[in-house]
Amino acid sequence: MGYKVVVAGATGNVGREMLNILAEREFPVDEIAALASRKSLGTEVSFGDKTLKTKDLDTFDFTGWDIALFAIGSDATKIYAPKAAKAGCVVIDNSSLYRYDPDVPLVVPEVNADAVTGYAKKNIIANPNCSTAQMVVALKPLHDRATIKRVVVSTYQSVSGAGKEGMDELWDQTKAVYNPTADVPAKKFTKQIAFNVIPHIDVFMEDGQTKEEWKMVAETKKILSKDIKVTATCVRVPVFVGHSEAVNIEFESHLDEAEARDILRESPGIMVIDKRENGGYVTPIECVGDYATFISRIRQDPTIDNGLNIWVVSDNLRKGAALNAVQIAEVLGQRCLKKG
Ligand SMILES: NC(=O)c1ccc[n+]([C@@H]2O[C@H](COP(=O)([O-])OP(=O)(O)OC[C@H]3O[C@@H](n4cnc5c(N)ncnc54)[C@H](OP(=O)(O)O)[C@@H]3O)[C@@H](O)[C@H]2O)c1
Repeated sequence: MGYKVVVAGATGNVGREMLNILAEREFPVDEIAALASRKSLGTEVSFGDKTLKTKDLDTFDFTGWDIALFAIGSDATKIYAPKAAKAGCVVIDNSSLYRYDPDVPLVVPEVNADAVTGYAKKNIIANPNCSTAQMVVALKPLHDRATIKRVVVSTYQSVSGAGKEGMDELWDQTKAVYNPTADVPAKKFTKQIAFNVIPHIDVFMEDGQTKEEWKMVAETKKILSKDIKVTATCVRVPVFVGHSEAVNIEFESHLDEAEARDILRESPGIMVIDKRENGGYVTPIECVGDYATFISRIRQDPTIDNGLNIWVVSDNLRKGAALNAVQIAEVLGQRCLKKG
């Protein structure tokens, strides 16, 4: 016996990956519904070797459905997640709407799978921001060994993190550079993204950091430890898929780079590729379509007492969103919503 599963936002970047990953991982599905907005009614999306026609989220009745994976943005989530939850369907949400709600667990299964059991207060579980997800996967085993005090992270985030429109803007602007008759002004991003980098993701906050940077701080504290200090600079780069992060970590006690490499090699969800030679590290193009969080460039930081630098790369549509959501659904099924 399997589950009745809904994917809301099935025509989007994350929703399509959710359907792929549910099929790839053979999630026990009895019935599946692919939902999007009314304008996409009947749009065909793939689920394994099947084709599904999307239905209208606005008129969908969640009664009798077990799990809904949401990837529709905060505004629409505010309307539809409470509807689904009230009908008894557990929502696993990818927007930022519920991430900081104390009654909603924020979960990365490699880090805090036990938190899933807290779903029942609102029938909602939140998925973290893509940049946070891959970073905490890398930090957790190191924190368990030497207790992290402070993290300084700079991100290099792909345009797919801004949805389908972000990918289209990079594609169209890149073409326009070679064909200057076509003008493609910045719309989704604040400046030209093709052949450029933009140190601005999400809105500015009063203290000068952006909301994306604030999210990395708040979410790391909620998922891993409230005592870890984090400071982030989040940058959009002209890469289609795959977020990269340069992470500087300060520990309470000494952690040798060789031991850190061994610990990371043995840890769930992580693939270490770290050879000190040309090409002996991972770049975003190589991580696309993969489940792992890749770690390279592991080295001591000689400027502080107990410091390490690492380079962390992952597919933002997978570990940063769809894969993490499906992993949460797996834990939920195994521990809370047992079938059969
Ligand atoms: N991309 C990432 O790396 C990433 C990572 C973590 C979290 N997220 C979050 O995941 C969510 C989706 O992101 P995405 O990148 O997949 O965006 P996207 O490619 O722009 O897709 C958005 C999806 O939401 C649907 N949608 C939007 N408004 C709707 C409404 N009012 N009613 C019904 N469906 C609606 C769209 O349907 P139509 O096609 O019919 O418009 C589409 O299926 C966002 O909350 C985002 O912040 C994204």
